[in-house]
This record gives sequence, structure tokens and C-alpha cells, in this order.
Amino acid sequence: MSRRKKIYEGKAKILYEGPEPGTIVQHFKDDATAFNNQKKATLEGKGVLNNRISEFIMEHLNRMGVPTHFIKRLNMREQLVREVEIIPLEVVVRNVAAGSIATRFGLPEGEPLPRSIVEFYFKDDALQDPLVSEEHITAFNWATTQELDDMIALALRINDFVSGLFAGAGIRLIDFKVEFGRLYDQNDMSRIVLADEISPDSCRLWDMTTNEKMDKDRFRRDLGNVTEAYAEVARRLGIMREADQNRDTEEA
Ligand code: TMP
Repeated sequence: MSRRKKIYEGKAKILYEGPEPGTIVQHFKDDATAFNNQKKATLEGKGVLNNRISEFIMEHLNRMGVPTHFIKRLNMREQLVREVEIIPLEVVVRNVAAGSIATRFGLPEGEPLPRSIVEFYFKDDALQDPLVSEEHITAFNWATTQELDDMIALALRINDFVSGLFAGAGIRLIDFKVEFGRLYDQNDMSRIVLADEISPDSCRLWDMTTNEKMDKDRFRRDLGNVTEAYAEVARRLGIMREADQNRDTEEA
């Protein structure tokens, strides 16, 4: 691993140069942060679980014709992805009021929204990722109008599909955050593809019957049993058998 060139280190992931031009190795760390890095911890086994859960979702999306950066999983903590130019936006889709939308508009957590809502946040830690409008995005050239339309359409398709995937596992997809990138072809034309990850770090997932939280809110709100909840998500999706998981966590 030390022979590889590190391209970028984020809060929960490291990107290394991939084996071929145009590829990148995405490494999932056990580190967790919340509230823009004010709260930090290492949650043993989280990286392994997020690598597997994100692989599972991205593979399904690829098969459904939603373009993603995902190529294949390499090992317990790493996946091979296509190199893309990340659009500096966090795209959030919400089905049920929770988190910042509940606070911002005084909505009770758990209240279904009248329809799925897509929001954009400008990715800038120094500014604490402010909520932005479509006007800001096109005026400041973070994305073109066409790219914006593509991102909204893809985000809603992802929402429909991933909601169904989780519903089949007895889990309600409350909201989630995705990031998109530009994938360039040989003629320097680009198209928008899903990048980053989809995991319990970037979603709100509630048990369908008990409403128990099975996502990073367990860490943000000090509810305990964070990795246990992520492991339960993986188990319900049929990704890892329990025995597998213990072994993988120890060996990773
Ligand atoms: P929010 O309610 O705090 O705005 O979060 C909305 C969704 O986005 C929730 O599923 C958690 C996810 N999220 C991230 O993945 N990264 C972030 O930095 C934030 C603030 C939220």
C-alpha cells in the first residue's frame, strides 16, 4: 500500500492512484467525524462494512443503468473506481423530515414530506457546507444547467431504487447524500456519474417497524452500537453472514 501514490485523504476515505490511467483506489477508513470534524472517533470495522454496503448498492445501480464510478471491489477495505472530476456539491434527497430540514423548518422528525425533496449543499468545510440554490450553482459555474438537470434526475432515480432495496430489508430510507462527478471520454466530452459512496455514513436508515436508527446518527447523537447497526444493515441486505463479518473485520 505504501508504494501507491496518495491522491487525497478525506475524513472517512483515502484515494490512491489506480493501477491504470483513469482509475483510482478508494480506501474506506474506520474514522468517523461529525459536525464538520468537531466530533471524531475510530469505529473498528466501519470501513469494511461501508466498502461492502456501498459496493452492493453501486453494483445494483450500475445494473439498473444508473452510471456510477464503481468498477469493482478489490479487498475488504478498497474498491477500484473511475477517476472523475468531483462536482463540489452534496446532493441530498429527503423522503421523511429528519436532521437539518426538521430543524430549519420546525418539522417533527419522522413526518413524511409531501414529496421527495432534492437539496444542494456547497462542499466547503471552511463555510460548513452551506445550503445553496440552483441559481448559485449555475451562476458560480459549479455545474451547468444540463448537469444540474442530470443530477436531479439521477438523484431521484437513485432514491426510488435504493428506497426499494432497503424496504426489502425492512429498512426505511429517510434521506441520503450523494456526490456526482464528470467522467470524461477520449474526446474530452463529459457525462455525470454517481461517485463517492452510499453507506450508513451518508444515509438515514430507520428500522421499518421500530424506527430504530441504523446509520451515522447513532454516532452523531451518541446512541451507541454504531458498527453493530451498520453490520445489521449489511446482514439484512444479505451482504455478509455474521461469521464472515467477524472474520473480515479481524483480518482487514
Ligand atoms: P442533514 O439532515 O444533516 O442535512 O443530512 C442529510 C443527509 O445527508 C443525511 O442522510 C446525512 C447526510 N450527510 C452526509 O452524508 N454528510 C454530511 O456532511 C451531512 C451534513 C449530511
